[in-house]
Amino acid sequence: MISPVHQLLREGTRERHETLDQGLALAGSEVDRSDYLNYLRALLGWLEPLEQRLWQLDWPDSLQAPARADKSAWIRADLASAGDASPVPQCTDAPRVDAADAYALGVAYVVEGSQLGGRFLAKHLADVTPALPLRYLRGYEDQVGPMWKGFLQYLDSEDGAQGQEAQALQGARDAFDSLTAWLRSQQAIRA
Ligand code: HEM
Repeated sequence: MISPVHQLLREGTRERHETLDQGLALAGSEVDRSDYLNYLRALLGWLEPLEQRLWQLDWPDSLQAPARADKSAWIRADLASAGDASPVPQCTDAPRVDAADAYALGVAYVVEGSQLGGRFLAKHLADVTPALPLRYLRGYEDQVGPMWKGFLQYLDSEDGAQGQEAQALQGARDAFDSLTAWLRSQQAIRA
């Protein structure tokens, strides 16, 4: 069952997700190795500074922040195994998360939700461009369902974003908007 907060975030960001999903140079049928590595570098430049703040906030143990905190390490591992040591510019425009509140949960919704699409992308890339390192896109692997469910449970709880839907939605929209603008500036989204 879809919870009210979750439903609101999903509906309130549907168009933004479509823009990303359809615009990513990566999702096309002619993606090559350099498109993929460019995408990983661009994503890392947005995600790393953000996730370092996000998961250090004062979350309850039930949210499993430590298990969510270092997706950047997976991207770094992929870049290393592809032999890509080029510099990674950092986005300075990602949403500011200063407290473990509904706004930060909205931002986290985007970061956690991106794991769901990763599986599809990993499969697509394995078909069109074999032999790419896919650790980040495989993400939580067989734990993707439980990790997502656990996140939504907290999102929808009274301690989470219940009753503060507007702040949560703002966080999610800001995260999608800053990520999309950044990926575009890094040529990871088709013009
Ligand atoms: C960095 C880029 C992306 C971000 C930030 C992102 C974000 C999200 C979010 C927040 C959700 C959760 C939606 C919900 O509330 O149910 C989601 C789900 C999903 N995304 Fe993406 N997404 C990204 C890229 C993609 C791409 C490129 C694809 C296409 C291959 C994709 C396909 C999907 C699918 C199929 C789901 C639903 C999965 C399921 O219900 O099991 N996403 N994504």
